Amino acid sequence: MTARSLIVAGNWKMNLGLAEGLALADALAAKTALLKSTRVWVAPSFPHLEPLARRLQGSKVVLGGQNVSWERKGALTGEVSAAMLLEIGVQFAIVGHSERRQLLHEDDAMVARRTTAALDQRLDVIFCIGENLAQRDGGETEAVLERQIQALLDLRSHGLTKLIVAYEPVWAIGSGRAATVEIIAEAHARIKEIFRSKAQLPDVPVLYGGSVTPDNFAEIASCPVVDGALVGGASIDKEKFTKLLELAEPQSLGHSR
Ligand code: PGA
Repeated sequence: MTARSLIVAGNWKMNLGLAEGLALADALAAKTALLKSTRVWVAPSFPHLEPLARRLQGSKVVLGGQNVSWERKGALTGEVSAAMLLEIGVQFAIVGHSERRQLLHEDDAMVARRTTAALDQRLDVIFCIGENLAQRDGGETEAVLERQIQALLDLRSHGLTKLIVAYEPVWAIGSGRAATVEIIAEAHARIKEIFRSKAQLPDVPVLYGGSVTPDNFAEIASCPVVDGALVGGASIDKEKFTKLLELAEPQSLGHSR
């Protein structure tokens, strides 16, 4: 399908018990060992990171937190710092997921602060942005993406090499209704252009997220401005997640379409 190196990132959200997570991690580690270029990232819930890090030692599966604090330490009940994540072998964090923006009222400024704190500590960051349905219907998609990105660039417009953007239209998340390839291509191209012109980043990686499944992933990933996927529902299902890896790298995993 593609010779590019894709990231397939699983966001397990508040799903899976520890035993289920360990079993899924074992399956992913076995599959990932056969991959040549695709990077497999997984974000389980915080309490499971440490046991999973031990289980995945020596494997190529990379672990991430589902959020990260904007401060290094202090009186912040319920928050987890980048240093705490790094200490146990975690290498990335998801920041600004729409569930946190909507349900926990994290605003653009807070998401930007979390992102810069994590980048300062040398974590990779999956920085999530995307419009909701009313904004799309109102023709505001581009303005929303620009606003969300500008909040980050206001704090930091350099040292963004560990930044990965996830374009996740809110209406596509968990809805079974993925964005069309045309919508994805337009949004990703615009996001890359904003970072090119405002942050001198020639080609920021952009993942697509929102109802990615083995049925639509090949088409989505064949789009040249798609650098991978951030996957929720399909990432907690062993068959579906491993199928996504086969589709990402059919030449290594012997899958034919
Ligand atoms: P979904 O979730 O794949 O279940 O739509 C994606 C996400 O929330 O990152």
